[in-house]
This record gives sequence, C-alpha cells and structure tokens, in this order.
Amino acid sequence: MIAAQITNGVYSLRALHWDRKLFDELVPLPDGTTYNAYLVIGSEKTALIDTVLPVKGESLIAALKALGIEKLDYVVANHAEQDHSGSIPLILQHYPEAKVVTNAKCRRFIMDTLPVERDAFIGVSDGQSLSLGDKTLNFMLTPWVHWPDTMITHVPEAGIVFTCDFMGAHLTTTELFAVDEPAAALAAKRYYAEIMMPYRAHSKAALERLLPLKPTYIAPSHGPVHNRPAFITGLYADWTSDAVRPTVLIPFVSMYESTAAMVDHLVDALQMRGLNAKPVNVVEFDSGEFAMHLIDASTVVFASPTVLSNPHPSVTGAAVLINLLAPKTRFAAVMGSFGWDGDLPASIMGQLPRLNATWLEPVMIKGKARGEALEEIDRLANDIARANFGDRAVAA
Ligand code: FEO
Repeated sequence: MIAAQITNGVYSLRALHWDRKLFDELVPLPDGTTYNAYLVIGSEKTALIDTVLPVKGESLIAALKALGIEKLDYVVANHAEQDHSGSIPLILQHYPEAKVVTNAKCRRFIMDTLPVERDAFIGVSDGQSLSLGDKTLNFMLTPWVHWPDTMITHVPEAGIVFTCDFMGAHLTTTELFAVDEPAAALAAKRYYAEIMMPYRAHSKAALERLLPLKPTYIAPSHGPVHNRPAFITGLYADWTSDAVRPTVLIPFVSMYESTAAMVDHLVDALQMRGLNAKPVNVVEFDSGEFAMHLIDASTVVFASPTVLSNPHPSVTGAAVLINLLAPKTRFAAVMGSFGWDGDLPASIMGQLPRLNATWLEPVMIKGKARGEALEEIDRLANDIARANFGDRAVAA
C-alpha cells in the first residue's frame, strides 16, 4: 500500500497488485493493477473515498493508522464492485462510527453482497452534497460507467474528482501521477476498450458532465492519478466520439491455410485501396489488445474455415466478444472456406445482435481460393473501400 499526498488534506492510498494476471477471469492485465482508495480530511470531518479488494483490506487499515486516522466519518462508495467496496466491512470493524455514503442502487448491491446493514448507510442522490467543514463532497450519479450504480465524487475546494472506474487504468506503478504518458495512455485505452466501450454513450455523457468542473486532478480507482486532466479527458473525447478510422480488423482462424491465404489476399487488396488492415489470429490472442483495435476500426471482417457445418469456435468466440463490447464498427463482413456445407455468414451474424453495422456481401469459397475466388475477395475489398470512402474509393 502506497500512501501519498495529492494536495492539501487529500491522500491517495493505493494497493498495488503487481502480479495479478487476469481481471474477472477474462481481462488480461499485462501491467497488473492497483486499487485506489482516497482520504479527504476536512476541518470537521474525514471521508474515505472507496476501499480496496478484500485481500488488500488489511494494508488499507494499516495505511490509515499510519496516517494517524483514529476516526472516519464517511466511507463513500462510488461503486459496489468488490475491488472498491469489498473492504467496507473491514473498515466498519475498525471505524464503527463511519457511515457508508452512496446512492440507492449501490447500497442495494452492497447489501446484496456484503455483510453491511441498512442503517450503516447514508443515501445520496444526484447533485447532493456533504460538508467536511472546509471541504465538500459533491455527488454526481453517472450510471453505466460501467454499472448501473456508478457515481463520481467531486471535492471542489481541492479541485479533485474521484471517478472510480471511469478514466481508470490497469497500470501498476509506484508513481502517484501519470508522468509516463505513453504508458498511461496505452493502459487507459486498454481499460476503456474492455470496461467502458460497451457503454460508450454513457461514458461520453459522464465526460460532458465532468469537463465543466475544470478539475485540477482526476483520481480514478485504478492506476495513476491525473494531474494534467486534459491528457485523459482528451483521450476519452476521442474514444467516445462517433469518429472511426479506415481500419479493417480481421479476426481469423485457418486450419489448412485456405482461410489464411484468403486473409493474406484481402490484406493486400485493402492496403492497395488505402485501408489499414489488422488481421488477428484468434486461436490464441490478447483480448485486450483486440478490444483496443475495436475502439475506432470502421470495419470488421470475420474469416473462418467451416467446422462441423459451423464457424470455427474461436471465430464464434471473437464474435461473441465483439457483441459484448458493442464497438462503433460501421461495416462488417464474413469470409470463409468450406468443404461441403455450412452457412458461416448466418451463424456469425447471429452472434452479433448488438453490432450496429452494415453487413457487406460475404465471400464463401469451396476449398482453396484461386482464380475467380480471388476476384471475389477483390470484390469484397472494393465494397469495403466504397463503404469507407464513398466516391473517393479507389478500385484496384
Ligand atoms: Fe474496478 Fe467496476 O470495478
């Protein structure tokens, strides 16, 4: 646990989890993660903002004791997920006078999950405030960034917003602030892609509510604190915008090199037409990196062999993942090979009800692609170029 002062009376209490490899048994963590609690000491009252994962709870208690905190008035729960609320019961054991401050949804989720009684809570709604004396906690409900319960706490006198998961990053570092901006940007991008992208419109709305606060610090509950807020708000403005880039993401699997040869031909054809192609073999892949490509790729082409009359299960898995992440992809297509039967396009399209994309004419090839079959791939490349560039498209 690293305790550091951010500004007068405001401390960061970060539990470092260097060697955590996966989050939710799903999200790869190449740089581990941190669980950040914050302490706000006012002239009359003291508040803890969020807690940490239960396995790190004792280190949070030790950090509070080391700072000489004998009494806590409030524990603000910005979000019920266990990595932030899981140590509330332990905090209440050590600080039984503290009240848990949160909104009705978050309270419900915490009571459903943890041994915290109803009378331990103070309920707050959007726009409500609590005074700590010379500092104020202002609460802003921001549902669906990324659960229905999420909220942000603003302390205007300190110029700081505590955003919980919003604008967070799975990046373990002993540095308090995001001084290594390239590393922070990459980790924040991965985090956005995996956690916030499914709720892009809500993230955009939360950003629009946060910007007028003109904070000096943005303090998320994972990763470093931002003391140059424009850095992270600029990135979020880009990611949450409607803009896409002329990039074609190609999740593919090949069993006997037939589909791989089709992908190679498509990559060359797209490049000749001014499109950026990104093939990803999805048999073994980093789902976080894959998700990052989806933030602004205009197009996805699924490429699969036929297995027992169906797409390869790894391609189906990639389609399921894309459906969960609901990216702003505008165009999609299916390309594949088969030996005797199967309807890959219908099967893959059926996995993607949340993808609001225009489906282009698929390419299905019997056996190895050659001659006219290659011309079909060129036709798909032309369709993709026209979809992306309209009349400016170059047919090669
Ligand atoms: Fe970091 Fe949604 O918890």
